[in-house]
Amino acid sequence: MVTAGPTYEAIDPVRFIGNRSSGKMGFALAESAARRGAQVTLVAGPVALETPRGVTRKNVESAREMAQAVLPLVEQNPPPDCIVMAAAVADHRPSEVSAHKRKKQDLGTSPTIALVENPDILRALGVAKQGIAPLLVGFAAETQDLDAYARRKLREKGCDVLIANNVAEAGSGFGSDTNRVTILVRRGDDIDVVPLPLMPKQEVAQHIWNQLLPLLPRPGS
Ligand code: PMT
Repeated sequence: MVTAGPTYEAIDPVRFIGNRSSGKMGFALAESAARRGAQVTLVAGPVALETPRGVTRKNVESAREMAQAVLPLVEQNPPPDCIVMAAAVADHRPSEVSAHKRKKQDLGTSPTIALVENPDILRALGVAKQGIAPLLVGFAAETQDLDAYARRKLREKGCDVLIANNVAEAGSGFGSDTNRVTILVRRGDDIDVVPLPLMPKQEVAQHIWNQLLPLLPRPGS
């Protein structure tokens, strides 16, 4: 299972809080897995991309909808062999959604939007799986101290693998066709670190699956 794209957190019927994720990285991962023969469910936020061939797609809009689509999957029998959270999920949403379009004249000169925390889907998956299958893969989009923040996220969110994404560099991260990532694989108390150069997202996806494949359960085991 792969998540991709942004989440939109509604302010009113026409406005939302979102981010610049295009979905390209997650879609490349889903496509690459399907090409290798995996059954892939792609949970996609609002993006303008075609569904890769052979992939089952579920469209969602908000973080809470994404959580509702993803969290029951670990309780399925059998659960997915691997969950990759490439989506850029909003950490917060407006505490109130106006039923009608908010009018400029009603908002005053310095309007504010109160926010509340969204569910942390990856962390909830990390707690739910308690060190057994499925293989849990998180992403970390960072603009500074990539290595330190990525190591912390790997531990705090209970992932087996974390893809540290440098989103400050030109041509890397949100919206681009290329990406630069470092793959962190947890091995007991140690962490293997595999830095990759800048390359097209399709190639990044191939490298990620090459690292994940030996960690997946073998068919029939
Ligand atoms: O979509 P593209 O334009 O191709 O861009 C790709 C990308 C930059 C979006 C992608 O490579 C990437 O880095 N995705 C993760 C973005 C992100 O939200 O990172 P984060 O560090 O805020 O979140 C860490 C992890 O927790 C992520 O796996 C995220 O999916 C997950 N998360 C975050 C918040 C939340 N409420 N629930 C979550 O599950």
